[in-house]
Amino acid sequence: MLSKYRPLFEPLALNNGVTVHNRLAAAPLTLFSSNPDGSVSDGERMFLTTHSERIGLYILGATLVQPDGQAFATQPRAISEADLDALAERAVLVKQGGGKAVLQIHHGGAQALPELTGTVPSVPSALQDGQHEMSAEEVTALIESFGRATELAIRAGFDGVEIHGANNYILQQFYSAATNHRQDEWGGSPEKRLRFPLAVVDTVCAARAKLQRPDFIVGYRLSPEEPGEEGLTMTETLDLVEALCGKPLQYLHISLWDFYKKARRGKGAGEPRLKLIHDQIAGRLPLIGVGNLFNADDLVAALNSGRCEFVALGKSLMINPRIATLIYEGRESELIGELDPHTPGHYGIPQPLWEMCVKGGAWLPPVKGLPHQNLDL
Ligand SMILES: Cc1cc2nc3c(=O)[nH]c(=O)nc-3n(C[C@H](O)[C@H](O)[C@H](O)COP(=O)(O)O)c2cc1C
Repeated sequence: MLSKYRPLFEPLALNNGVTVHNRLAAAPLTLFSSNPDGSVSDGERMFLTTHSERIGLYILGATLVQPDGQAFATQPRAISEADLDALAERAVLVKQGGGKAVLQIHHGGAQALPELTGTVPSVPSALQDGQHEMSAEEVTALIESFGRATELAIRAGFDGVEIHGANNYILQQFYSAATNHRQDEWGGSPEKRLRFPLAVVDTVCAARAKLQRPDFIVGYRLSPEEPGEEGLTMTETLDLVEALCGKPLQYLHISLWDFYKKARRGKGAGEPRLKLIHDQIAGRLPLIGVGNLFNADDLVAALNSGRCEFVALGKSLMINPRIATLIYEGRESELIGELDPHTPGHYGIPQPLWEMCVKGGAWLPPVKGLPHQNLDL
């Protein structure tokens, strides 16, 4: 390995005594390829095996905690005992890569797809036709579902869970004034809108305590800003970060499409979002940064910026399944920056996702011969 890339392979001890063997995280990626009943498909098996090699923290894509939250054509599930075997298989596949296996736990809320769930989306506030505003009892039941998913993840052999509080899904919908107009205990003021995400964190941590697993990692992923007058601003995000730093978490993870993206409005507008969040954390928790880090130099520059403790790879990992090993072995010149549509077998990407990729999309990896513009949110 070239000495300049050594920082990527430094271990990091988390605050619960668990050591992650390097600074490379796999960004959570929905593969659109689980079997409809949530069991592991051959395509998923192939992806998890080929893409986890030497990754320190492998975060599996959005995994459903309640059936009515499904927001992707197919998703892994952590809903009931029936899901244990499939979860256990995923944990084994990922851990063969040598790192920690973390399950991202998710509910789509307003983004759930009625044609798949057979029911209208459950939301904090029904702001349009065809939505179901959750009762207080349903809110409590959903919080408990995140706890149950955590217990299943522990029993299945995962090393941790990541609470999906990002990308406009249910936790973010509760926190944002744009999507939460409730006037009960779950809405009406910034403090009350914050209650749902924090209650999920508390319940997840309680599940870990119940199973006496202090070594189990709990992380939280958040999106920093929303467009629109009522949408989340950096001010609210920094308040969320402050509240999360008071919880027994092991890491925070920001969802970005550009590592260097600057804040639009609110506290710190014009400064890099990641820097603002890292400054707010002030060393209390490690932070995962992400967004268009395509090669070894991008990755080490991001880490050396001092704005995060881990760097996550999404598209670059899809394109280069063995990226961590190639950098480790001094073969970073073999990394590539786009998918070649004529060599589908090279990447270990399951067929449904591959078909989406080769049509092209700003949120998907660049494809040889197609114009590409990165997503900019
Ligand atoms: C195919 C695909 C699936 C994704 N699925 C998830 C997901 O399940 N959960 C999540 O939080 N983010 C998801 N993301 C976002 C990524 O985790 C990551 O934040 C994003 O791709 C930006 O990082 P990158 O530039 O390294 O790709 C997905 C992205 C892609 C391309």
